[in-house]
Amino acid sequence: HSDLDSDQVSAALPPALETDGSRAARKDEHVDLALGQQGDGAAHNEFDDLDFVHQALDGVDAERVDLGVGIAFGAGPQHAAGEWHWETPFYVNGMTGGTDRTTRINRELAIAARETGLPMASGSVSVALDDPNAARGFAVIRAENPDGFVMANLGVGRPASDAPRAVELLGANALQIHVNAVQETAMPEGSRDFSSWISSVEQLAAASPVPVVVKEVGFGLSRSALRHLSDIGVGIADVGGRGGTDFLRIENARRSAGEYAMLAGFGQSALASLLDAPRNAPTLLASGGVRTPFDVVKALAAGAQAVGVAGAFLAAIGSDGASGGAERLIALVDDWKLRTRAVYALLGAVTRDDLLATDVILRGRLREFCADRGVN
Ligand code: FNR
Repeated sequence: HSDLDSDQVSAALPPALETDGSRAARKDEHVDLALGQQGDGAAHNEFDDLDFVHQALDGVDAERVDLGVGIAFGAGPQHAAGEWHWETPFYVNGMTGGTDRTTRINRELAIAARETGLPMASGSVSVALDDPNAARGFAVIRAENPDGFVMANLGVGRPASDAPRAVELLGANALQIHVNAVQETAMPEGSRDFSSWISSVEQLAAASPVPVVVKEVGFGLSRSALRHLSDIGVGIADVGGRGGTDFLRIENARRSAGEYAMLAGFGQSALASLLDAPRNAPTLLASGGVRTPFDVVKALAAGAQAVGVAGAFLAAIGSDGASGGAERLIALVDDWKLRTRAVYALLGAVTRDDLLATDVILRGRLREFCADRGVN
């Protein structure tokens, strides 16, 4: 029963609480509230709790660096096993679509993804599956970027038949399924029923014609969660950790009193999730609180194959999706590529796999978490 849209819940609630109008309003509110948090972009998060040991004589030439990564996935009922090759180890994570404003934002994001070759996910498409008028707000992603790598996004709890519909809407290469129990808990119109989620993920994955990526929206995936995903055959997981765009704060801001503000700080960071991952985890992607290319490299060194960025890229586009946003994001992404390459060279890494051999030091809350979990 979930979604950043909570569509399933709507039937059980008085119509006034969940009309299409309020659902659309929520999309715009999410954008404004998320952008409001970007102001504290330099704020401490657990990426600051990981340091590399500097090796003064072990660097390599930046021009030798290969930023490409391979994202391996197993076979599903509807698709063969395989591996995607992405030229850049970061991607535009799932955000929005469906209203006029968020359609403009998606267009600018898609143009930037096309021009920079970045993979890109849509926001939850359920609004478009329920209301064909909203479909254009997502179809624009594929229209602007016919050959790029596109992921459609859907919430756990949706009927299995929505998986192929979501993929078709975007001509998607992958399907992100988001799990967001903390957000649902804080959301006024959110679900409180989570016991069917594993079987829902399993059914959506089985019905998807393309590989699925199960993602959290900012509270992390634990060792046990990753084991569950492996057990049901999910090939890829985005640990979506705490420390970036904070949906607890966003939902608290959307209610008159912040009843669930008490949960502040709940969940695990992306780095904590990566370090806690079991040996048999799905292929790991990471996101949540990525502010700079240095954060990208830290997540890769901690075990991610690629890193998702939402808030920081949305900030470059701007809240109204006015034209010019794509140019700003293209410039930012080009700069991130350059600086990612420079940091690889500094760390002596020609490829992402070389980053796994770096020496790191953990501090603060991240160190405490790892000590407690027996991670070394
Ligand atoms: C999101 N996010 C999100 N995730 C998802 O799976 N489906 C969705 O529809 C949305 N919607 C959404 C809207 C907006 C405006 C933002 C900023 C984010 C969550 C996103 O993919 C990511 O997990 C978090 O934002 C954490 O990453 P950042 O923002 O710290 O880089």
